[in-house]
Amino acid sequence: MTLVVIGVSLAALGGLLYWQLVLAEGVYLGQGMVTLLYDRVAPRYDSIKGYDPQAEDLILGRPVATMLGHVGTPLILDVGTGTGRVIAAVMQQPDFQGHALGIDPSAPMLEKAWEKLRVYEPRVTLMRKTGDNLPFPDGAFDAIILVEMLEFTPSPAAQIAEAVRVLRPGGLVITSRRRGAGAAMMPGKVHSKAGFERMLTGAGLAEVRIFPWQVDYDLVWALKPGSQPKPSHRVEDVLQCPCCSRTGMLREGDDLRCAHCDTIRTGPIIEY
Ligand SMILES: C[S@@+](CC[C@H](N)C(=O)[O-])C[C@H]1O[C@@H](n2cnc3c(N)ncnc32)[C@H](O)[C@@H]1O
Repeated sequence: MTLVVIGVSLAALGGLLYWQLVLAEGVYLGQGMVTLLYDRVAPRYDSIKGYDPQAEDLILGRPVATMLGHVGTPLILDVGTGTGRVIAAVMQQPDFQGHALGIDPSAPMLEKAWEKLRVYEPRVTLMRKTGDNLPFPDGAFDAIILVEMLEFTPSPAAQIAEAVRVLRPGGLVITSRRRGAGAAMMPGKVHSKAGFERMLTGAGLAEVRIFPWQVDYDLVWALKPGSQPKPSHRVEDVLQCPCCSRTGMLREGDDLRCAHCDTIRTGPIIEY
């Protein structure tokens, strides 16, 4: 009898751990666990995902470059950039002359991203940071990307609200909605189609379009209503200094130096 109880308890514990660590990817165990799991998977991440470069080009790269074509030199922010998949698809578009900042809390994921994005230096900057409390003034970016990442944040709705704050009126949001069997394992972190649309419109976005995309994800486009020209197209012009909070950093090779208080953030993957 005791052996049966021990066996059942161990099986239940194993099932719980499998759910929390593998199926839910650590989301209920806090940001530290999510980041630790991505740190560990980073070297194998791209081969596990096995993205088709042609599909990435067709579904992510070309549409983003086309939608931003009227801007000239757009500035895009990719929150939860991971191994830089979306930035790579956009930067390789011949008609995209803009700049991009990718942020992610996992240093090993960013190191993999840098391997593929360093050829676009200085138009690409990477920063180790979570997507909450973004160190930018309101309306700093022309487009915000939040692909395959919302469900890993402490609060997807708060993450969207913060992204909308740093997006200029008239700017574009590209995100994704988790669906299918994977979504069933993440209660409270994922939304129905209607619920997802409500979350975006509640944060001030409009013209929400939700398309079936991958097995586990819908792709979602939305616009921030209004129109406002953006004065700058470079990350260093909109980044707030971690010390004096003022905007205006100067690029010195891979490093960024505050124009006001001389604080320096060293690159190519800037710690913030
Ligand atoms: C499934 S990967 C997606 C990466 C990339 N967006 C893509 O489509 O390939 C999720 C990424 O979100 C990052 N992440 C987790 N929590 C985050 C947070 N609070 N803020 C920003 N990124 C986060 C992880 O480190 C990981 O790199």
